[in-house]
Amino acid sequence: MSKLNQEVLKLLSKQDFLSGQKMATELGISRTAVWKAVKSLREEGYTVESVTNKGYKLVAASSELNETLLTSMVKDSSLFSEVIYKDSVDSTQKLAFGKITDIKEPFIVVAGEQTEGRGRFNREWASPEKRGLYMSAVFKPDIYLNEIIKFNLFISLAIANAIEKSFNLDAGIKWPNDIYINGRKVCGFLTEVISENNMIQSIICGIGLNLYHTEDISKLETATSIEDELKLDDKKDLDMESFLKQLIIDLEKQYDQFINMPFSSIREEWISKSIIFGKEMRISEMNRTFMAKPVDITDEGFLLAVDRYGETHKIISADIEF
Ligand code: BTN
Repeated sequence: MSKLNQEVLKLLSKQDFLSGQKMATELGISRTAVWKAVKSLREEGYTVESVTNKGYKLVAASSELNETLLTSMVKDSSLFSEVIYKDSVDSTQKLAFGKITDIKEPFIVVAGEQTEGRGRFNREWASPEKRGLYMSAVFKPDIYLNEIIKFNLFISLAIANAIEKSFNLDAGIKWPNDIYINGRKVCGFLTEVISENNMIQSIICGIGLNLYHTEDISKLETATSIEDELKLDDKKDLDMESFLKQLIIDLEKQYDQFINMPFSSIREEWISKSIIFGKEMRISEMNRTFMAKPVDITDEGFLLAVDRYGETHKIISADIEF
């Protein structure tokens, strides 16, 4: 988006109605230039109403992600200092890693598409243009490395809550890194860490959320998208502005809990959202795979699963499948 469009948008976001002349004076440009900027904002998906003798009013923000929208959101954030937005990138995760030394405070990277998006175990993460949210959030805690086990528990709750509140859908947590709706995966996240001397310096959390239906999703029985779950009759764009605002609020809240509170403070809520308890699952750890039923999670964040011989397994990290 051009600098001028960004400035016009900023002015419109602050006021109810604003005349073209006022905007022109404030920005030191002609009224025609204002009119052109408004026209191009409309083309980008913003709904700008114009009323004779009153001026322009921003009625609805764009359903598309862009730098202006994201920057204005991060301005209200008590945690994230900045946002980097790219229309296209190899991977937001890679870009985030590359910026870690330059940006001292927590920050966010968002992309319109990823050409080399990757998931856990280096699997490909299909990231077609404008079909999903592709985001990496960088946190800079100063805590011991072993605390990272709990990070996923707090973050999974943040993502599930944001989806529920924004789209009114029942989002369940599939330990350790997935969010499901109606038995299908809608979101996965990936947690990577930079540490030194057993202390965490940065956590890079990559979140991939399927927003709209894609070919890949129809091929997979185990995947879904927000659009599919909302079962919209007419093609309607999702309100990304509200969703991202909510996601940032929930990430901030749960990150704060993670830093300051034990897992027990959210354990009950987390368990109520978990979709794995009491179900026979295939559990793949580094060196072995076995079938067992998850029955509980400890205050330290270990999953307890009982196999058919009655033996209880304490699991720190694994891939689990229904
Ligand atoms: C998984 O379920 O395996 C985790 C998927 C994580 C995908 C996200 S999309 C944004 C960020 N950039 C990447 O390349 N991966 C993560």
